[in-house]
Amino acid sequence: MTDVKAFLAEKASKTENALTEHFARWKDAPERLREAMEYSLFAGGKRLRPGLVLGAAEITGGNDERALPAACAVEMIHTYSLMHDDLPAMDDDDLRRGRPTSHKVYGEAMAILAGDALLTMAFEVASQSGDARVVAELAGAAGAEGMVGGQVIDLMSENEQLTVDELQRLHACKTGALIRASVRAGVLLGGGSEEALTRLTQYGEHIGLAFQIADDILNVTGTEAAMGKPVGSDEAHHKSTYPALLGLEKAKELADACVAQAIQTLEDFGDEAAHFRALAQYIVERDS
Ligand code: IPE
Ligand code: IPE
Ligand code: MG
Ligand code: MG
Repeated sequence: MTDVKAFLAEKASKTENALTEHFARWKDAPERLREAMEYSLFAGGKRLRPGLVLGAAEITGGNDERALPAACAVEMIHTYSLMHDDLPAMDDDDLRRGRPTSHKVYGEAMAILAGDALLTMAFEVASQSGDARVVAELAGAAGAEGMVGGQVIDLMSENEQLTVDELQRLHACKTGALIRASVRAGVLLGGGSEEALTRLTQYGEHIGLAFQIADDILNVTGTEAAMGKPVGSDEAHHKSTYPALLGLEKAKELADACVAQAIQTLEDFGDEAAHFRALAQYIVERDS
């Protein structure tokens, strides 16, 4: 666990430095807008997705420098998704990353616009990777067939009893798509083979599902202090979650099974994939 934390911390620090440099370029943005964008982006956060981009690039023979634009872009997209997710029209939450949510501090209009700006600028940043496949990968994962699609399914499923298959589709879109795309972007920028892309894509899909199941479990068993966001809210909002559908024990078993499958997909890799093996385990053992 300590090793994974060190790995994530190193990748987070590189990503945050690169993000700071990008913000320094956007001098003509209204000050209040920039402040709102930075408030949510630099509020901590596990930086899992940038870690996946940079880690996947490393495993496939690439380097941080080439993969950093994609790492920054995915964290910007993720942060925007959280800002909009917390809005009164959506989950109506007051706490995120241990701070009052954007709309609580800056008002709803600014929270919407700062999210819009993060999303849009993410693609300018991603384009600096010089690889159109990476830009397309992120767009696909963020859009109607990916995260936004998942958010819509999530909203439409409130007060509905979903089947396990329907819930898996919801999770695959809402959270899985961006996690999968993070890994794939890293492989593309690392210059990995088709085989490596296939394997690591499967890894991304398994950890993506494990991640969202763990998030659902932590909404029941976690603490607000550790999570930096409200707990118990899924039940209050009658959300479809694995613990709600299967019970806590079965949900934990399923998350563990996803981790085992993720580690299995790495069997053809050697020591270069050690961080990714540990990361898969960390996803279900974390408390935040
Ligand atoms: C939270 O994501 C929302 C989900 C997709 C479950 P993270 O747990 O990665 O949030 P941060 O980035 O660490 O704040
Ligand atoms: C947020 O999903 C994930 C996004 C795609 C924005 P949730 O609503 O389930 O996650 P939290 O609990 O607010 O982080
Ligand atoms: Mg939500
Ligand atoms: Mg939410």
